Amino acid sequence: MPDTLDAPITLADGTDDAPAYPIKRRCPYHMPPGYEELRDKSPISRVTLWNGRVAWLVTGNEVGRRLFPDQRLSSDVLDPRFPLLAPRIEAQRQQAAAPPLVGVDDPVHARQRRMVLPSFGIRQVNALRPVIQRYADELLDKMLAKDPGTTVDLLTEYALPMPSAVICTLLGVPYEDHHYFDERSRHVLSSSGPEQAAQAQQAFTEILTYLDNLISRKQDEPGDTLLDELISRQLEEGKVDRHELAMLATVLLVSGHETTSNMIALSTMALLAHPEQLQALRADESLMPRAVDELMRYASIGDMLMRVAKEDIEIEGHLIKAGDGVILSTMLMNRDPESFERPDELDIHRQAGRHVGFGYGIHQCIGQNLARAEMEIALATLLRRVPTLRLAVPADQIGVNAPFVLQGVTELPVTW
Ligand code: HEM
Repeated sequence: MPDTLDAPITLADGTDDAPAYPIKRRCPYHMPPGYEELRDKSPISRVTLWNGRVAWLVTGNEVGRRLFPDQRLSSDVLDPRFPLLAPRIEAQRQQAAAPPLVGVDDPVHARQRRMVLPSFGIRQVNALRPVIQRYADELLDKMLAKDPGTTVDLLTEYALPMPSAVICTLLGVPYEDHHYFDERSRHVLSSSGPEQAAQAQQAFTEILTYLDNLISRKQDEPGDTLLDELISRQLEEGKVDRHELAMLATVLLVSGHETTSNMIALSTMALLAHPEQLQALRADESLMPRAVDELMRYASIGDMLMRVAKEDIEIEGHLIKAGDGVILSTMLMNRDPESFERPDELDIHRQAGRHVGFGYGIHQCIGQNLARAEMEIALATLLRRVPTLRLAVPADQIGVNAPFVLQGVTELPVTW
């Protein structure tokens, strides 16, 4: 086995056919320019990152499904060879510890995952459905109390507060503090430029400190939420230390925010652009679970999942060398014509189950049952209660996030 730690990082030298990556989306749910060429080229090709480094880009669904569970690929963000899609990750890497779950490998990863997985099971999520429904209705009551014709930002009035309230309820975080961590969560997951790296790092530290204080308060006054359970079953029994628990809670709180809210906003926008499919969903709500999977496939908001090779891997005639960066593009895998017919069309009637919008393998999204329930309820309630919903500005005037971890819109002005 090669000495991976000494493996040099490959830099672009102008002779490599490796286009710049990532590429900004022009529309939040369409493939960005250049993706079609990457898709046509090969299921795995090379791209150049912002710092001049060359990395592998996996675009084929079948190849990706082979690579996702491959234990020779590591999620360890502290590994100096980990590919950096944005300077923000560099700041994260300077932290003393990697973010739990997403940023670590087994066995640490498996231990952390076991601690929280039971709270995200289908039964636990189904028990939360009435709570999710209540939040959706309360937010729409507030929105619909405004005069018809008013413009509201659906992202901040509905798509964000709903998942925020749900993850707070599940974790046991007081929702009245949401202004504190809503904005900070956004900085953590959606900022990308060099000037935003310090801001993202500071936001993460502030949420961490907030949750660390909350753990102290809960030790004095225990409740019956996920965080209380983690304190009594894991912290107080010495299975996890205080810092790791606060980090774990931070990752859950942040992941429970931006992801689902971006999907609710993008799904609404995509459905408004496909009125016949919107109509079909309004007429038959039982189509919703299938539609949510299709929207996950179509929007692929968690594009660009990063890994570093710990050992050499031979695949599809290519040699991924130990130390090479590997980026799995969920959007390209979800738009692979070998796996999906008419991949660039939204079709809520299709069986989109093989999409990788929640990832695949050991790091597959822990919150996917919760996210599905939130999306189903958020969209069904919105379509039912606001039959005249429409965009308040032309779709091409809606701002799109920087091309980084999470795809989304900066705001979603709507009216009814
Ligand atoms: C529509 C909404 C969501 C999308 C698109 C999404 C997407 C993803 C993806 C693609 C991954 C895999 C990351 C990788 O392989 O590197 C992931 C992992 C994860 N997600 Fe989600 N997610 C969503 C909602 C949620 C929610 C509501 C939570 C709630 C806490 C959550 C918590 C997590 C965590 C903790 C991981 C890391 C799991 C691990 O490493 O074992 N996600 N998510």
